[in-house]
Amino acid sequence: MLIKNVHIENDPEVKDVRIENGIFKTIGKNLEASDDVVIDANGKLLLPPFIDSHVHLDATLTAGDPEWNETGTLFDGIRIWSERKQTLTKKETKERAIQTLKKQASHGIQFVRSHVDTTDPSFTALEALLEVKDFMELQLVAFPQEGILSFKNGKNLIKQAVEMGVDVIGAIPHFEFNRDYGVDSLKYIVELAEKYDKLIDVHCDEIDDPNSRHLEVLATLAYESGLKNKVTASHTTAMGSYNDAYVYKLMRLLEMSNINMVCNPLINMHLGGRFDTYPKRRGLTRAKELLENNVNVSFGEDDIKDPWYPMGDGNMLDSIHMGIHATQLMGYSQIMNSYNLTTNNGAKTLNITDHYGIEVGKPANCLIFNTDNFYNELNERKELLYSIHNGNVIVKTEPAEIKTNF
Ligand code: FE2
Repeated sequence: MLIKNVHIENDPEVKDVRIENGIFKTIGKNLEASDDVVIDANGKLLLPPFIDSHVHLDATLTAGDPEWNETGTLFDGIRIWSERKQTLTKKETKERAIQTLKKQASHGIQFVRSHVDTTDPSFTALEALLEVKDFMELQLVAFPQEGILSFKNGKNLIKQAVEMGVDVIGAIPHFEFNRDYGVDSLKYIVELAEKYDKLIDVHCDEIDDPNSRHLEVLATLAYESGLKNKVTASHTTAMGSYNDAYVYKLMRLLEMSNINMVCNPLINMHLGGRFDTYPKRRGLTRAKELLENNVNVSFGEDDIKDPWYPMGDGNMLDSIHMGIHATQLMGYSQIMNSYNLTTNNGAKTLNITDHYGIEVGKPANCLIFNTDNFYNELNERKELLYSIHNGNVIVKTEPAEIKTNF
């Protein structure tokens, strides 16, 4: 396959891309086709595929069942989900997950990291999601939604989930009964990750409490264990409420530890600040300052129509759009480069940079949009013309024709 005349990642020059045997073979100018398949993109934008580095596929598409989360708090979300999960079946969980993955694929997502609630002795959701791994390059995180030390048999449950075949181990230290349990839960999962050679992704300090300080514990463990960039701290919304002197100290540790951070702008703008009157906090981590301090930050979608978030369409452009507003990453060059938050930065979070990116010799995974740069794409939401995975076109969209009569 030869793709002609594309702006690769906003490059003002156009280039051609030749794909052979599912691999990027050559990137350059005026290339000749080696087979019959030629896409003349005529100056369109080519990006690496989107990555959703944080979503919950087990809960997706359950909003309103058994009730809508009318208060909009995280804690009501957990309460409603704990009722809903009593009625889960493997079949319907698989169906909802596949429906969501197809939607995500239609918007250019090719890689997904999904958390799956493992505080369920029957492991219904985990068994279901282990069976949908063929539909997408999917990492599963054993996520103890109701705690590790604060939930009956929690330590064994997460260990069992690891042995069942998850890729990543999670925790939720701010939800444990007390700080000691939170710290112990982090130490426990680091031991598990070392023993079973797994990645770590923690729901960390997702609360507007400035005293919720498990991030410093997780970063210290990542640094001292040497796990470093195999560790991710998700949400970390308490960082939006920490004082600046403390953040100054914390930032040094975060950079040294080399951990990844995931910000989920859609959900945390919605859930955050719910206990405030005014001024009302944004409830987001300090994405802009983290990036300025060389800490890797990716954006996730987190929830798609579930007890925590009533909306969502599997489209990373929504996360970027909300996120750059809410974290004030709105300089022209920041907007132009914001695709990195759900592409190259996400690849670092998922530890997949060895087979991700627009580079000769890597698997031919890319997106072509019906516009010339990402600033225009984010503003105008032009069609995803092609999503190409391992050299195969997996999504193709014909541009819509809109007639305006006035
Ligand atoms: Fe989450």
